[in-house]
Amino acid sequence: GVPVYRFCIENASGASVSVMNYGCTIQAIRVPDRNGTLTDVCLGYRTLAEYEQNNGYLGAVVGRHGNRIEKGIFQLNGTEYHLAVNDGPNHLHGGICGFDKRVWDASIEGQSVMFHRLSPDGEEGYPGNLDVRVTYTFTDDNRLLLQYRAETDADTVVNLTNHCYFNLSGEGKGTIRNHILRIPAGSFTENDADCLPTGTVLSVEGTPFDFRAAKPVGRDIGADDGQLAIGHGYDHNFALSGRDAAELYSPESGVAMNITTDMPGVQLYTANFLERIPGKRGALMEPHGAVCLETQEFPDAVHHADFPSPVLRAGAAYHRETELTFDVR
Ligand code: BGC
Repeated sequence: GVPVYRFCIENASGASVSVMNYGCTIQAIRVPDRNGTLTDVCLGYRTLAEYEQNNGYLGAVVGRHGNRIEKGIFQLNGTEYHLAVNDGPNHLHGGICGFDKRVWDASIEGQSVMFHRLSPDGEEGYPGNLDVRVTYTFTDDNRLLLQYRAETDADTVVNLTNHCYFNLSGEGKGTIRNHILRIPAGSFTENDADCLPTGTVLSVEGTPFDFRAAKPVGRDIGADDGQLAIGHGYDHNFALSGRDAAELYSPESGVAMNITTDMPGVQLYTANFLERIPGKRGALMEPHGAVCLETQEFPDAVHHADFPSPVLRAGAAYHRETELTFDVR
């Protein structure tokens, strides 16, 4: 019963980004390929109803705390909080009705669309009223800036990211196994069988996780490796040491995307569980049909004192940003 709007930010060259106030969802990113043809490089559905029905978080902002929290239970200031559990025994991407399934207030300013929402105290089990703002800006030089701001009236945990599924050859154009990926990280967090961090931070050296020199996403995805076996592909958090987060390139279309962020980690998820549902142009989605690069706090950081803290104190300002720059080669 609440109206949902789609906004299209078109830049001077005709490239555009479409976003919805349902889940702050990025529904389309149309950028030129090497022949100058506009290509939609992110996956999405054709109707709003499909966004409501499905649980793949396509293009959405996930929160209040993206990724997993073990058993959905954590302690803060001596109080134990119980979150909604929606991924086996654990909490994933904000719970049963997370930020991706909410309708946000929206406003427009220049080449930006701003979304705002008040997440009430107790929502999905989280403490504190959280005032959240997400701003998307698309510039004339094909940069998509994602800015996240939040304030709380009681201590809580916050981890906001966007869950876009990229296929730089164009959505519906096969798998991303031939995409060339670079991630500068020298280490990543080891997963247990539930994709929760064990707490051990492993070196990428000599493993399928070494993307420091760019390589095809699919080169080592089938390697005999216990970490890859758990998630049927990559589903891991890389530890970043600066703003440089990742670079992805499709040799087929020539579209390249560079990601910078001030967040401490990036989740490489090779869409291992993508359901075979028709996408925007009718082609069926498929496992490894896209790649997510979710800039984020470390998963389950609230349970690991040596990970950067996801705690947002009452009155403090949460301010994070990620920038996607599109180019051709
Ligand atoms: C997680 C995956 C999960 C997926 C759901 C990713 O961010 O890392 O484990 O299956 O989201 O779409």
